Amino acid sequence: MSILRKLLAGLVAVVGLLAVAVFGMSSYRMSRTIAFTDGAPPIPTDTATLARGRYLATAIAKCTECHGADLGGKLAVDAGPVGTMYGPNLTSGVGGLGPSRTDADLVHAVRHGLGPGGRKLRFMPSLDWSGMADEDVGAIVAYVRSVPPVDRTMPASVVKPLGRALYVIGQLPLHEAELIDHTAPRAPRPASGATAEYGAYLARIGGCTGCHGPGLSGGQVPGTPPEFKPAANLTPEGIGHYTEADFFTALREGRKPDGSAIDPFMPWALTKLMTDDDTRAIWKYLISVPRKPFGNR
Ligand code: HEC
Ligand code: HEC
Repeated sequence: MSILRKLLAGLVAVVGLLAVAVFGMSSYRMSRTIAFTDGAPPIPTDTATLARGRYLATAIAKCTECHGADLGGKLAVDAGPVGTMYGPNLTSGVGGLGPSRTDADLVHAVRHGLGPGGRKLRFMPSLDWSGMADEDVGAIVAYVRSVPPVDRTMPASVVKPLGRALYVIGQLPLHEAELIDHTAPRAPRPASGATAEYGAYLARIGGCTGCHGPGLSGGQVPGTPPEFKPAANLTPEGIGHYTEADFFTALREGRKPDGSAIDPFMPWALTKLMTDDDTRAIWKYLISVPRKPFGNR
Protein backbone atom coordinates (compact mmCIF):
# COMPACT_ATOMS: atom_id res chain seq x y z
CA MET A 1 0.00 0.00 0.00
CA SER A 2 1.32 3.45 -0.80
CA ILE A 3 1.72 5.94 2.04
CA LEU A 4 -1.16 7.96 0.65
CA ARG A 5 -3.47 4.96 0.73
CA LYS A 6 -2.46 4.13 4.29
CA LEU A 7 -3.11 7.71 5.32
CA LEU A 8 -6.46 7.63 3.63
CA ALA A 9 -7.40 4.34 5.27
CA GLY A 10 -6.34 5.81 8.61
CA LEU A 11 -8.44 8.90 8.04
CA VAL A 12 -11.49 6.83 7.15
CA ALA A 13 -10.97 4.81 10.33
CA VAL A 14 -10.71 7.98 12.44
CA VAL A 15 -13.84 9.48 10.90
CA GLY A 16 -15.64 6.18 11.44
CA LEU A 17 -14.57 6.05 15.08
CA LEU A 18 -15.64 9.68 15.58
CA ALA A 19 -19.06 8.93 14.12
CA VAL A 20 -19.43 5.95 16.43
CA ALA A 21 -18.34 8.08 19.41
CA VAL A 22 -20.79 10.88 18.53
CA PHE A 23 -23.58 8.36 18.08
CA GLY A 24 -22.76 6.62 21.35
CA MET A 25 -22.38 9.82 23.38
CA SER A 26 -25.50 11.43 21.95
CA SER A 27 -27.61 8.28 22.43
CA TYR A 28 -26.41 7.99 26.02
CA ARG A 29 -27.26 11.60 26.86
CA MET A 30 -30.55 11.56 24.96
CA SER A 31 -31.77 8.53 26.86
CA ARG A 32 -30.96 9.82 30.38
CA THR A 33 -34.09 10.72 32.26
CA ILE A 34 -34.68 13.52 34.75
CA ALA A 35 -36.75 12.50 37.75
CA PHE A 36 -38.77 15.40 39.02
CA THR A 37 -42.37 16.11 40.02
CA ASP A 38 -43.92 19.57 39.75
CA GLY A 39 -47.06 20.50 41.61
CA ALA A 40 -50.27 19.96 39.67
CA PRO A 41 -51.94 23.36 39.44
CA PRO A 42 -55.74 23.46 39.20
CA ILE A 43 -57.10 23.03 35.66
CA PRO A 44 -60.31 25.12 35.56
CA THR A 45 -62.74 24.49 32.70
CA ASP A 46 -64.90 27.64 32.68
CA THR A 47 -65.27 29.40 29.33
CA ALA A 48 -63.13 32.41 30.34
CA THR A 49 -60.22 30.11 31.22
CA LEU A 50 -60.61 28.13 27.99
CA ALA A 51 -60.58 31.36 25.99
CA ARG A 52 -57.46 32.52 27.80
CA GLY A 53 -55.85 29.10 27.25
CA ARG A 54 -56.58 29.30 23.55
CA TYR A 55 -55.11 32.81 23.38
CA LEU A 56 -51.97 31.76 25.27
CA ALA A 57 -51.53 28.62 23.14
CA THR A 58 -51.76 30.57 19.87
CA ALA A 59 -50.76 34.23 20.27
CA ILE A 60 -48.31 33.96 23.18
CA ALA A 61 -46.72 30.53 23.70
CA LYS A 62 -47.42 29.56 20.06
CA CYS A 63 -47.99 25.84 20.71
CA THR A 64 -49.87 25.81 17.39
CA GLU A 65 -46.67 26.61 15.44
CA CYS A 66 -45.37 23.11 16.15
CA HIS A 67 -48.48 21.14 17.08
CA GLY A 68 -50.74 22.58 14.36
CA ALA A 69 -53.67 25.01 14.57
CA ASP A 70 -55.91 22.04 15.53
CA LEU A 71 -53.21 20.69 17.92
CA GLY A 72 -53.36 17.49 15.85
CA GLY A 73 -49.63 17.60 15.08
CA LYS A 74 -47.59 18.81 12.11
CA LEU A 75 -44.18 18.85 10.47
CA ALA A 76 -42.78 21.82 12.39
CA VAL A 77 -39.24 22.35 11.09
CA ASP A 78 -37.13 20.58 8.47
CA ALA A 79 -33.62 21.64 9.47
CA GLY A 80 -31.93 19.59 6.72
CA PRO A 81 -28.85 17.73 7.98
CA VAL A 82 -29.58 18.73 11.60
CA GLY A 83 -32.89 16.89 11.76
CA THR A 84 -36.62 17.05 11.27
CA MET A 85 -39.02 18.13 13.98
CA TYR A 86 -42.57 16.86 14.15
CA GLY A 87 -44.94 18.20 16.81
CA PRO A 88 -47.02 15.29 18.07
CA ASN A 89 -50.82 15.14 18.04
CA LEU A 90 -51.96 16.44 21.45
CA THR A 91 -55.67 15.69 20.98
CA SER A 92 -57.70 12.65 21.99
CA GLY A 93 -58.13 11.44 18.38
CA VAL A 94 -56.48 8.39 16.80
CA GLY A 95 -52.69 8.92 17.06
CA GLY A 96 -53.15 11.59 19.73
CA LEU A 97 -51.30 11.65 23.04
CA GLY A 98 -54.24 13.12 24.98
CA PRO A 99 -55.79 9.98 26.50
CA SER A 100 -52.45 8.54 27.66
CA ARG A 101 -51.32 11.69 29.49
CA THR A 102 -52.52 13.08 32.82
CA ASP A 103 -52.95 16.82 33.42
CA ALA A 104 -49.76 16.69 35.49
CA ASP A 105 -47.95 15.13 32.48
CA LEU A 106 -49.06 18.07 30.33
CA VAL A 107 -47.85 20.59 32.92
CA HIS A 108 -44.54 18.74 33.04
CA ALA A 109 -44.21 18.82 29.25
CA VAL A 110 -44.78 22.59 29.15
CA ARG A 111 -42.81 23.82 32.17
CA HIS A 112 -40.09 21.16 32.34
CA GLY A 113 -39.73 19.70 28.84
CA LEU A 114 -40.25 16.24 30.29
CA GLY A 115 -42.48 13.35 29.24
CA PRO A 116 -43.80 10.52 31.41
CA GLY A 117 -41.02 8.76 33.31
CA GLY A 118 -38.82 11.86 33.11
CA ARG A 119 -38.04 11.35 29.40
CA LYS A 120 -36.42 14.51 28.05
CA LEU A 121 -38.59 15.84 25.23
CA ARG A 122 -36.88 16.80 22.00
CA PHE A 123 -37.22 20.35 20.70
CA MET A 124 -39.90 21.43 23.21
CA PRO A 125 -38.87 25.04 23.98
CA SER A 126 -39.73 24.68 27.66
CA LEU A 127 -36.92 26.89 28.96
CA ASP A 128 -39.07 29.92 28.04
CA TRP A 129 -41.98 28.44 29.98
CA SER A 130 -40.23 27.20 33.11
CA GLY A 131 -41.34 30.40 34.84
CA MET A 132 -44.92 30.22 33.54
CA ALA A 133 -47.42 30.86 36.33
CA ASP A 134 -49.80 28.13 37.53
CA GLU A 135 -52.87 29.95 36.23
CA ASP A 136 -51.39 30.29 32.73
CA VAL A 137 -50.12 26.73 32.38
CA GLY A 138 -53.45 25.60 33.88
CA ALA A 139 -55.37 27.56 31.23
CA ILE A 140 -53.22 26.10 28.42
CA VAL A 141 -53.76 22.54 29.66
CA ALA A 142 -57.51 23.20 29.98
CA TYR A 143 -57.55 24.40 26.37
CA VAL A 144 -55.51 21.42 25.09
CA ARG A 145 -58.04 19.13 26.78
CA SER A 146 -60.98 20.97 25.20
CA VAL A 147 -60.04 20.80 21.51
CA PRO A 148 -61.93 18.38 19.23
CA PRO A 149 -60.18 15.05 18.61
CA VAL A 150 -58.02 14.91 15.47
CA ASP A 151 -57.12 11.56 13.87
CA ARG A 152 -53.50 12.00 12.72
CA THR A 153 -50.46 9.88 13.46
CA MET A 154 -47.21 11.82 13.43
CA PRO A 155 -43.73 10.33 12.98
CA ALA A 156 -41.25 10.87 15.82
CA SER A 157 -38.76 13.75 15.39
CA VAL A 158 -35.45 12.73 13.83
CA VAL A 159 -32.02 13.96 14.89
CA LYS A 160 -29.57 13.43 12.02
CA PRO A 161 -25.78 12.94 12.35
CA LEU A 162 -24.98 16.68 12.16
CA GLY A 163 -27.65 17.35 14.79
CA ARG A 164 -26.15 14.69 17.03
CA ALA A 165 -22.65 16.14 16.61
CA LEU A 166 -23.92 19.66 17.40
CA TYR A 167 -25.78 18.30 20.41
CA VAL A 168 -22.67 16.54 21.77
CA ILE A 169 -20.57 19.72 21.50
CA GLY A 170 -23.30 21.79 23.13
CA GLN A 171 -24.41 23.70 20.03
CA LEU A 172 -27.91 22.25 19.71
CA PRO A 173 -30.31 22.71 22.63
CA LEU A 174 -32.13 19.50 21.72
CA HIS A 175 -33.41 18.90 25.22
CA GLU A 176 -34.20 22.16 26.98
CA ALA A 177 -34.99 20.03 30.05
CA GLU A 178 -31.22 19.90 30.52
CA LEU A 179 -31.05 23.70 30.74
CA ILE A 180 -33.89 24.18 33.23
CA ASP A 181 -33.42 24.49 36.97
CA HIS A 182 -36.36 22.21 37.79
CA THR A 183 -36.58 23.15 41.45
CA ALA A 184 -36.16 26.94 41.11
CA PRO A 185 -38.93 28.82 42.91
CA ARG A 186 -41.33 30.51 40.49
CA ALA A 187 -41.70 34.29 40.74
CA PRO A 188 -45.26 35.50 41.31
CA ARG A 189 -47.02 36.38 38.05
CA PRO A 190 -47.11 40.16 37.45
CA ALA A 191 -50.61 41.61 37.11
CA SER A 192 -51.82 41.79 33.47
CA GLY A 193 -51.70 45.23 31.90
CA ALA A 194 -49.64 47.41 29.59
CA THR A 195 -46.67 47.54 31.96
CA ALA A 196 -42.98 46.78 31.42
CA GLU A 197 -43.13 44.27 34.24
CA TYR A 198 -45.87 42.20 32.61
CA GLY A 199 -44.09 42.73 29.27
CA ALA A 200 -40.98 41.03 30.68
CA TYR A 201 -43.08 38.01 31.66
CA LEU A 202 -44.75 37.92 28.21
CA ALA A 203 -41.42 38.30 26.37
CA ARG A 204 -40.23 35.19 28.16
CA ILE A 205 -43.33 32.96 27.87
CA GLY A 206 -43.88 34.41 24.39
CA GLY A 207 -40.52 33.10 23.20
CA CYS A 208 -39.00 36.50 22.29
CA THR A 209 -36.05 35.64 24.55
CA GLY A 210 -35.90 32.08 23.15
CA CYS A 211 -35.06 33.35 19.65
CA HIS A 212 -33.68 36.84 20.31
CA GLY A 213 -31.53 35.67 23.26
CA PRO A 214 -31.87 36.01 27.04
CA GLY A 215 -30.47 39.56 26.74
CA LEU A 216 -32.58 40.17 23.58
CA SER A 217 -29.58 41.30 21.52
CA GLY A 218 -30.27 38.85 18.67
CA GLY A 219 -27.95 36.57 16.71
CA GLN A 220 -28.23 33.10 15.16
CA VAL A 221 -31.14 31.24 16.76
CA PRO A 222 -29.64 28.21 18.59
CA GLY A 223 -29.87 25.01 16.55
CA THR A 224 -30.80 26.68 13.25
CA PRO A 225 -28.70 26.14 10.11
CA PRO A 226 -26.65 29.14 8.92
CA GLU A 227 -29.07 29.89 6.06
CA PHE A 228 -31.74 30.82 8.64
CA LYS A 229 -31.98 34.56 9.28
CA PRO A 230 -30.44 35.62 12.59
CA ALA A 231 -32.85 37.13 15.11
CA ALA A 232 -32.72 40.92 15.32
CA ASN A 233 -31.34 42.99 18.18
CA LEU A 234 -34.40 44.05 20.21
CA THR A 235 -32.49 46.17 22.70
CA PRO A 236 -32.50 49.96 22.11
CA GLU A 237 -29.27 49.41 20.11
CA GLY A 238 -31.34 47.54 17.50
CA ILE A 239 -34.84 49.05 17.64
CA GLY A 240 -34.01 52.44 19.19
CA HIS A 241 -35.27 54.06 15.98
CA TYR A 242 -38.71 52.42 16.37
CA THR A 243 -41.81 54.28 17.54
CA GLU A 244 -44.50 52.34 19.37
CA ALA A 245 -46.54 52.40 16.13
CA ASP A 246 -43.57 50.90 14.23
CA PHE A 247 -43.45 48.10 16.79
CA PHE A 248 -47.14 47.33 16.26
CA THR A 249 -46.57 47.29 12.46
CA ALA A 250 -43.61 44.90 12.87
CA LEU A 251 -45.55 42.48 15.07
CA ARG A 252 -48.81 42.69 13.12
CA GLU A 253 -47.83 43.19 9.50
CA GLY A 254 -44.29 41.85 9.43
CA ARG A 255 -42.77 45.08 8.19
CA LYS A 256 -39.79 47.08 9.48
CA PRO A 257 -39.97 50.89 9.72
CA ASP A 258 -38.20 51.19 6.33
CA GLY A 259 -41.03 49.15 4.79
CA SER A 260 -38.95 46.01 4.19
CA ALA A 261 -40.46 42.61 5.00
CA ILE A 262 -39.58 40.70 8.15
CA ASP A 263 -38.65 37.08 7.46
CA PRO A 264 -41.58 34.76 8.31
CA PHE A 265 -39.31 32.76 10.62
CA MET A 266 -40.13 35.65 12.95
CA PRO A 267 -43.64 34.41 13.91
CA TRP A 268 -45.51 37.62 13.21
CA ALA A 269 -48.43 35.56 11.82
CA LEU A 270 -49.05 34.72 15.50
CA THR A 271 -47.71 37.84 17.25
CA LYS A 272 -50.34 39.74 15.24
CA LEU A 273 -52.97 37.99 17.38
CA MET A 274 -51.66 39.59 20.59
CA THR A 275 -53.95 42.12 22.24
CA ASP A 276 -53.07 45.83 22.16
CA ASP A 277 -52.28 45.76 25.86
CA ASP A 278 -49.96 42.76 25.60
CA THR A 279 -48.16 44.21 22.55
CA ARG A 280 -47.75 47.53 24.38
CA ALA A 281 -46.49 45.73 27.52
CA ILE A 282 -43.72 44.04 25.52
CA TRP A 283 -42.87 47.35 23.84
CA LYS A 284 -42.58 49.09 27.21
CA TYR A 285 -40.34 46.31 28.44
CA LEU A 286 -38.08 46.36 25.35
CA ILE A 287 -37.44 50.10 25.57
CA SER A 288 -36.45 49.60 29.21
CA VAL A 289 -33.82 46.86 28.70
CA PRO A 290 -30.11 47.71 28.65
CA ARG A 291 -28.59 48.51 25.24
CA LYS A 292 -26.44 45.63 23.96
CA PRO A 293 -24.38 45.08 20.82
CA PHE A 294 -25.81 42.62 18.27
CA GLY A 295 -25.28 38.96 19.07
CA ASN A 296 -24.17 39.53 22.64
CA ARG A 297 -27.23 37.29 23.54
C1 HEC B 1 -40.78 24.58 18.71
C2 HEC B 1 -41.80 23.56 18.58
C3 HEC B 1 -42.75 23.31 19.71
C4 HEC B 1 -43.55 24.22 20.37
C5 HEC B 1 -43.65 25.71 20.15
C6 HEC B 1 -44.33 23.44 21.30
N1 HEC B 1 -44.01 22.13 21.21
FE1 HEC B 1 -44.79 20.62 22.35
N2 HEC B 1 -43.55 19.29 21.44
C7 HEC B 1 -42.71 19.57 20.38
C8 HEC B 1 -42.05 18.35 19.96
C9 HEC B 1 -41.05 18.21 18.81
C10 HEC B 1 -42.52 17.32 20.81
C11 HEC B 1 -42.14 15.84 20.79
C12 HEC B 1 -41.01 15.65 21.76
C13 HEC B 1 -40.59 14.23 21.98
O1 HEC B 1 -41.45 13.33 21.92
O2 HEC B 1 -39.41 14.01 22.28
C14 HEC B 1 -43.48 17.96 21.72
C15 HEC B 1 -44.17 17.28 22.71
C16 HEC B 1 -45.20 17.82 23.46
C17 HEC B 1 -46.02 17.08 24.38
C18 HEC B 1 -45.96 15.58 24.60
C19 HEC B 1 -45.13 15.19 25.74
C20 HEC B 1 -45.25 13.71 26.01
O3 HEC B 1 -45.84 13.40 27.03
O4 HEC B 1 -44.78 12.90 25.20
C21 HEC B 1 -46.92 17.96 24.92
C22 HEC B 1 -47.99 17.66 25.93
C23 HEC B 1 -46.64 19.24 24.35
N3 HEC B 1 -45.59 19.14 23.46
C24 HEC B 1 -47.36 20.38 24.63
C25 HEC B 1 -47.06 21.64 24.12
C26 HEC B 1 -47.75 22.85 24.51
C27 HEC B 1 -48.94 22.91 25.43
C28 HEC B 1 -47.14 23.87 23.86
C29 HEC B 1 -47.38 25.36 24.01
C30 HEC B 1 -47.29 25.85 25.38
C31 HEC B 1 -46.08 23.28 23.02
N4 HEC B 1 -46.07 21.94 23.22
C32 HEC B 1 -45.27 23.99 22.16
C33 HEC B 1 -42.49 20.81 19.81
C34 HEC B 1 -43.05 22.00 20.24
C1 HEC C 1 -38.92 31.63 16.19
C2 HEC C 1 -38.00 32.71 16.49
C3 HEC C 1 -38.53 34.06 16.87
C4 HEC C 1 -39.43 34.38 17.87
C5 HEC C 1 -40.17 33.43 18.80
C6 HEC C 1 -39.51 35.81 17.88
N1 HEC C 1 -38.74 36.36 16.92
FE1 HEC C 1 -38.62 38.33 16.42
N2 HEC C 1 -37.38 37.88 14.86
C7 HEC C 1 -36.90 36.63 14.59
C8 HEC C 1 -36.02 36.71 13.43
C9 HEC C 1 -35.25 35.57 12.81
C10 HEC C 1 -36.00 38.08 13.04
C11 HEC C 1 -35.23 38.71 11.88
C12 HEC C 1 -36.08 38.69 10.66
C13 HEC C 1 -35.47 39.46 9.53
O1 HEC C 1 -34.33 39.93 9.63
O2 HEC C 1 -36.17 39.61 8.49
C14 HEC C 1 -36.89 38.77 13.96
C15 HEC C 1 -37.19 40.12 13.86
C16 HEC C 1 -37.96 40.83 14.76
C17 HEC C 1 -38.25 42.24 14.67
C18 HEC C 1 -37.81 43.19 13.57
C19 HEC C 1 -36.56 43.90 13.99
C20 HEC C 1 -35.93 44.77 12.92
O3 HEC C 1 -34.91 44.32 12.37
O4 HEC C 1 -36.44 45.84 12.62
C21 HEC C 1 -38.99 42.56 15.79
C22 HEC C 1 -39.53 43.92 16.18
C23 HEC C 1 -39.17 41.33 16.55
N3 HEC C 1 -38.55 40.31 15.90
C24 HEC C 1 -39.84 41.26 17.76
C25 HEC C 1 -40.14 40.04 18.41
C26 HEC C 1 -40.92 39.96 19.64
C27 HEC C 1 -41.45 41.14 20.42
C28 HEC C 1 -41.05 38.63 19.90
C29 HEC C 1 -41.84 37.98 21.04
C30 HEC C 1 -43.25 38.32 21.10
C31 HEC C 1 -40.35 37.89 18.87
N4 HEC C 1 -39.79 38.79 17.99
C32 HEC C 1 -40.29 36.52 18.79
C33 HEC C 1 -37.19 35.46 15.24
C34 HEC C 1 -38.10 35.32 16.27
